[in-house]
Amino acid sequence: MARIPLAVPDLTGNEARYLQECITSTYVSSVGPFVDRFESLVAEASGARGAVAVSSGTCGLHAALVALGVGSGDLVIVPSLTFIASANAVAHCGAAPWLMDVDPLTWNLDPKVLEEHLSRETRLHQDGTVIHRSSGRRVAAVMAVHTLGLPADMEPILASARARGLPVIADAAAALGSWHRGRPVGALEADLSVFSFNGNKTVTCGGGGAVVGEDAGLLNLVRHLTTTARQGSHYDHDRVGFNYRMTNLQAAVGCAQMERLEPFVAAKRRIRRRYDQAFADLAGVVSPFPDPADSVGACWFSGFVMERGDPDGVERLRNGLQQMGIDARPFWKPIHLQPPYRDAPCSAQPVSEALWWRVVTLPCGTGLPPEDQERVILAARKLLTA
Ligand SMILES: Cc1ncc(COP(=O)(O)O)c(C=O)c1O
Repeated sequence: MARIPLAVPDLTGNEARYLQECITSTYVSSVGPFVDRFESLVAEASGARGAVAVSSGTCGLHAALVALGVGSGDLVIVPSLTFIASANAVAHCGAAPWLMDVDPLTWNLDPKVLEEHLSRETRLHQDGTVIHRSSGRRVAAVMAVHTLGLPADMEPILASARARGLPVIADAAAALGSWHRGRPVGALEADLSVFSFNGNKTVTCGGGGAVVGEDAGLLNLVRHLTTTARQGSHYDHDRVGFNYRMTNLQAAVGCAQMERLEPFVAAKRRIRRRYDQAFADLAGVVSPFPDPADSVGACWFSGFVMERGDPDGVERLRNGLQQMGIDARPFWKPIHLQPPYRDAPCSAQPVSEALWWRVVTLPCGTGLPPEDQERVILAARKLLTA
């Protein structure tokens, strides 16, 4: 029987035609009509005023952090349960992540943990900077992550940050198409939000990213930073910039993908719902991924959380599914457990440590046929009830 992959991109729309247009026109680099169109499509779909297309989500996070003033020696608050790129972008600035635990109901940065640690462990310097008491380092920003495409609870996060004059960046890598309390993800008032269009995302450019926001000045700064900080048509550069712009080739694929954002996200949600229904009677054995009432998530990945057993047992289950031709995968190991960040300041992590190894992700590509999803469900149920 054929293997069922975790997710494969659906490139059956206008992707090939738009790529051919790039080649015929010779506009293959970072100047071209598809880049402008892609930026408009992403801004509109995310509910943001503007977008800057970049070469990856990681590059977008890096440029956004620099634009928000993060620099060498600073700390940036980041939830520990995230993909390592969130922390790497901070480290690329010469800063370090200050790792905080997540809310068990959303798997996103816990606003209570954030407020508690900011209150207890920082002081306000007379020049208005927030200082981490024990290290003496400046806290320069808060990064929320919309894990699995589910928006973080932004209101209390923004309140804690704004009360101290801290900018807020959202790592919205997989969250295009999601909503929180009636607002689309790009309109949740983070200073800047960053999407990824990597090959495994719901909408892909092969690789790519976009930084969105409301403040035109800030977006212009991001654009400037990502285009080598070049001024005018001569070789004048006013600071150390980056070559982070998206190419017309990437944007051509992205435009074709954006044309199908709605059906793609609808398919992701349908797949999530089906898994949740299929395992609902196994309460106590597995639990579903978070689905809080005040959000409509983009359901980037789907699967379940093992409610019993140990890490070896969960690994055996994933291996069992793999042997049955089903691409079940593990989830992110928290950042504080990763060697490059072992010394980073860190809150207690009871939630992330109890959670990450119990997560099993299941095939959830937008083109997953219902009969393949049934095969996944039958296989998982067989192992779970054995
Ligand atoms: C939460 C999160 N942040 C950042 C990234 C990095 O995006 P990219 O792979 O486009 O650099 C990803 C990619 O999977 C992600 O899931």
